[in-house]
Amino acid sequence: MKFHIKTYGCQMNERDSEAASAALLDAGFELASGESDADILLFNTCSVRDQAERKAIGKIGLVKREKRVRPDIVVGVLGCMAQSLGETLVEKVPHVDFVLGTDRLGDLVDVVNAELERRGKIVRTAPATDDSPPSHLDGHLPLERRSSRVSAFVALMRGCDCFCSYCIVPYVRGRERSRPMDEILDEAERLVEEGVKEIVFLGQNVAAYGRKEGLAPNGRSALARLFERASGIGGLRRIRFTSPYPSDFDDDLIEAVASLPKVCDSVHLPLQSGSDAILKAMNRRYTVSEYMSVVEKLKGFAPGMTFSTDVIVGFPGERDEDFEGTRRLMEEVGFENAFIFKYSPRRGTRAAGLADSVPRGVKEERNAVLLDDLKRRAETANRALVGRRVEVLVEGVSKRDDSRWYGRTTTNKMVVFAPNPSILVGDMVAPVVVRSTAATLFGEFPAGDR
Ligand code: SAH
Ligand code: SF4
Ligand code: F3S
Repeated sequence: MKFHIKTYGCQMNERDSEAASAALLDAGFELASGESDADILLFNTCSVRDQAERKAIGKIGLVKREKRVRPDIVVGVLGCMAQSLGETLVEKVPHVDFVLGTDRLGDLVDVVNAELERRGKIVRTAPATDDSPPSHLDGHLPLERRSSRVSAFVALMRGCDCFCSYCIVPYVRGRERSRPMDEILDEAERLVEEGVKEIVFLGQNVAAYGRKEGLAPNGRSALARLFERASGIGGLRRIRFTSPYPSDFDDDLIEAVASLPKVCDSVHLPLQSGSDAILKAMNRRYTVSEYMSVVEKLKGFAPGMTFSTDVIVGFPGERDEDFEGTRRLMEEVGFENAFIFKYSPRRGTRAAGLADSVPRGVKEERNAVLLDDLKRRAETANRALVGRRVEVLVEGVSKRDDSRWYGRTTTNKMVVFAPNPSILVGDMVAPVVVRSTAATLFGEFPAGDR
């Protein structure tokens, strides 16, 4: 029996899909080469914006035809939209066989087997009965099955307690729960033994890792302790993390990020808005000046650090001057990379009770202005690197051009270069940048060098 998983949404969902695949492989199922030769079709979905849901529902809708031709296939919906819509999903889309919520991913193998044996609708969205993070979290795909052999995601925690007024995540992922530090480190060590060189630690608010569980006594940062211990894993070259909530990014963590060489010089620090009034309406617990203070402290310790962020344009009540504040702040930080989202009201959230007052055209214009700024800044910054050597962790064949390889700098810039026999995936190399665009640096190895 072969399965195929289509994944939407954030890295947490990518990680869950890996874990789900690992569980199915362990149980004797095989990976299909695509949708058309799969007996079990799974969709791991996202609910964060209306568009994300419409995309997945559209795609799941298309399977109806396939199911008419091959009535024996099993169709399952997982992830955040499964959690949020539950029963309504099987009512709306009758060819869906089962729906598994975010806390029920550990039931996947049982449910798939049950469906194969005896058809019938299964919907499981009840939250886990205890507070501990689900046990399936550390399942990893065998090395030869992974999309990256070099970099791996490790989940630190589940859920979120922040309740930003626009966000559905706390409702679909439940309360914040952190995994024990030893368990995380064991998983990281195992990955490094298999050849992984970079670990990306994941959570909705990683800066609050272990806060509830008291993992770092005396008010110190548990994430900083974790970074110190992970830095001791021989063979691990790089540590990344996403995302930290700005006001939980305390001095202890700032110092760890700045002083531990394996922790990369690039920080994803979700801003959302550069207006104090809008931040307040969003229920974000920081002001513009508090946000800037984190950025400045980090830059003070590590001047080359780059920053990326998430921004929402068109939140209810966002005036021109609020938007200008966002634009100014982004310039001040010097973001070259950011995800810009147009506000989308989500059911059950506090902001859904407010009028979605910013017209669509204005959201689009604000979105375009910010993207334009980013591109201009990225072009300028990347041009300044031409002629310089950059240190690159080699990740593999370029997805756009298979005659080239790619890797990234510690500052998370993509570098492509012509492969040569002395370079292996997972090596650290130091090409000279010969050309650049907003998105890519092109590297070459001077003769007699690699
Ligand atoms: N926990 C992460 C964010 C997860 S959601 C963090 O806070 O860093 C990813 C991003 O989606 C958010 O940062 C936000 O910018 C965006 N987002 C969330 N809800 C949204 C909504 N209702 N409309 C538009 N964008 C939204
Ligand atoms: Fe959503 Fe805010 Fe939690 Fe991020 S921190 S997941 S934006 S509620
Ligand atoms: Fe991620 Fe989307 Fe869920 S952003 S946490 S997959 S709602």
